[in-house]
Amino acid sequence: MFPLGWYGESRWTQKQSDSKVIGRLTTAVEFAGEEASPWGALKLIGGSANPGLAQLISDQLQVPVTDARLRRFPDGEINVKIEDSMRGHDVFVIQPTCPPVNEHLMELFIILDALRRASAGRVTAVVPYYGYARKERKTQPREPITAKLIANFITLAGADRLLLLDLHAEAIEGFFDVPTDHLSPHRIISEYLLTRHLKNLTVVAPDAGGGRRAELVANQLKAPIAFGYKRRSGDDEVEMIAVSGEVKGRDCVVVEDIITTGGTISKLAQSLHAQGANRVIVAATHPVLSGNAIERLKKADVDEVIVTDSVPIPPEKLGPPLTVLSVAPLLAEAIIRVHENRSVSELFR
Ligand code: R5P
Repeated sequence: MFPLGWYGESRWTQKQSDSKVIGRLTTAVEFAGEEASPWGALKLIGGSANPGLAQLISDQLQVPVTDARLRRFPDGEINVKIEDSMRGHDVFVIQPTCPPVNEHLMELFIILDALRRASAGRVTAVVPYYGYARKERKTQPREPITAKLIANFITLAGADRLLLLDLHAEAIEGFFDVPTDHLSPHRIISEYLLTRHLKNLTVVAPDAGGGRRAELVANQLKAPIAFGYKRRSGDDEVEMIAVSGEVKGRDCVVVEDIITTGGTISKLAQSLHAQGANRVIVAATHPVLSGNAIERLKKADVDEVIVTDSVPIPPEKLGPPLTVLSVAPLLAEAIIRVHENRSVSELFR
């Protein structure tokens, strides 16, 4: 497994000489100090969804994670008691809404509510994986639009702004009526792929909806794009109908947002090899990895599956074919920029 924080080590270094800035991100985004922010001191709070990521972000920023004292009442209800005063502060709550998604969403709502009632100056929900995103429009009558419903709940609970990573559909950003910053891991993924010395590279989008995501990586790697066309016969049954584009004799990098059951990846890898692809590598942002997804990926004809730590992976699922890249440096840098009212879009250049 490639070490977590690899991207951080390669792009950002820690200043060891000045004790006030040790661990801060340096280069263009050096932390300017609390006086640079109109929002009070920067505070971090982590829900229970991904404490490892919250800690890595905290290490980058040298800002401790405030204990939210998440507890359960005997009947299973969630209780929160934020340990320090949040009055007037600029608070970032780190909580991907990964499985168990309903639990993690409720935790997020309750933490946001506690912060609002604690007179926090401004609250940003940092949601590196946004669940319930598949339903962002109605495809049949009498269906919900859960991506919009969850956006309503998050803002209603008290988020003044959102920091998001690789949403399933870009349009979801518009479901929030508060400011949002939507980050992409394409540079982290591309920089890693450059170390893999791939030959005659083609970037593959598993479906038309993934075209923009694949294009971002293809542009970085100066590679052509191919597209898959799939049909779902059930929630976890995927049929790959066709692959269009140049794949014969080429190393193919499939760029995906989520791996849930691994069905899409296995079927696409099969089709790519059937059409003469040389190697198949997968780069997916969110390793949700439900049920027997890992077994499926191990059996699939793929050389490597690159994912990020937006969602925690249980230790028993780690190891080949997975390579985990950390998004903590990217999120930490975005948090500093939001805190200091500086451009976040510069991160994409
Ligand atoms: C669907 O449109 C998404 O982009 C992913 O392709 C999907 O969530 C992957 O799911 P699975 O791993 O279950 O095929």
